[in-house]
Amino acid sequence: MSVAERASREQRLANLAAAVERCRACEIGSIRRNSVFGEGDACAKLLVIGEGPGETEDQLGRPFVGRAGQLLDKMLVAIGLQRDDVFIANTVKCRPTFDDGVRLRNRPPDPVEMANCRPYLDEQIDILAPSVILCLGAPSAKSFLGPKFSITKQRGIWFEGPRGIPLIATFHPAYILRLTGGEINATKRLVWGDLKAVAAKLAETPTLRQAQGDQAKAAPGDKAKAAALGSWQSEPVGLSPSKDEGSHGSDHPPPDPQPTLFE
Ligand code: URA
Repeated sequence: MSVAERASREQRLANLAAAVERCRACEIGSIRRNSVFGEGDACAKLLVIGEGPGETEDQLGRPFVGRAGQLLDKMLVAIGLQRDDVFIANTVKCRPTFDDGVRLRNRPPDPVEMANCRPYLDEQIDILAPSVILCLGAPSAKSFLGPKFSITKQRGIWFEGPRGIPLIATFHPAYILRLTGGEINATKRLVWGDLKAVAAKLAETPTLRQAQGDQAKAAPGDKAKAAALGSWQSEPVGLSPSKDEGSHGSDHPPPDPQPTLFE
């Protein structure tokens, strides 16, 4: 990709981020501390799409910077990608909240909020023109594939996404963090399979860094990957359930008796 094309994309993304920052289409646009436009490489081959900002993201104006974000980083490293190799966005750019009488708490975005924010996501996809879209969690996948999408039954399957871009969904990292016991390894094994599918699809279209000869950073299958796998599979668990990841709680895979992952 040419320097001029990169600069053009970065400028278009900056303009769009400014429009998001001005947007007050939803009430949460006035309540939030910061809009969370998304971040990453304007020439990324992989676009990761979550549900919506939580409290930490709202505080910092950046996507996936809480515990789920730390696990997402490890998941990316597991397929040879650094966070800044990809672009990370959400279906909504403002933190959806409700007041429980004591403090603002996270909640899933409602359909109107998702519809209001959709033009921003669509324009991000237009600008980035990624090779692959990875949806994290059911709400993100449903926003592209319709309300009947089942994260349990249809994660790990390739779909035709917007602009004909290959799209795949996997479990949301926040969902993994809420699991206990054998469900953790069983779910991580499924997620690892999905991530490998993403890596294979990306390998069909080399990343910019690979094209520039920086194989070490972008190529899946090396020792760094193995180290990363070890670290993200041993992520501590026990995050108490919250409204943050709204619909992730219903689709539990069966417990897996085998403790070993990522053989
Ligand atoms: N969960 C999401 O879906 N998005 C974020 O940015 C953070 C947590």
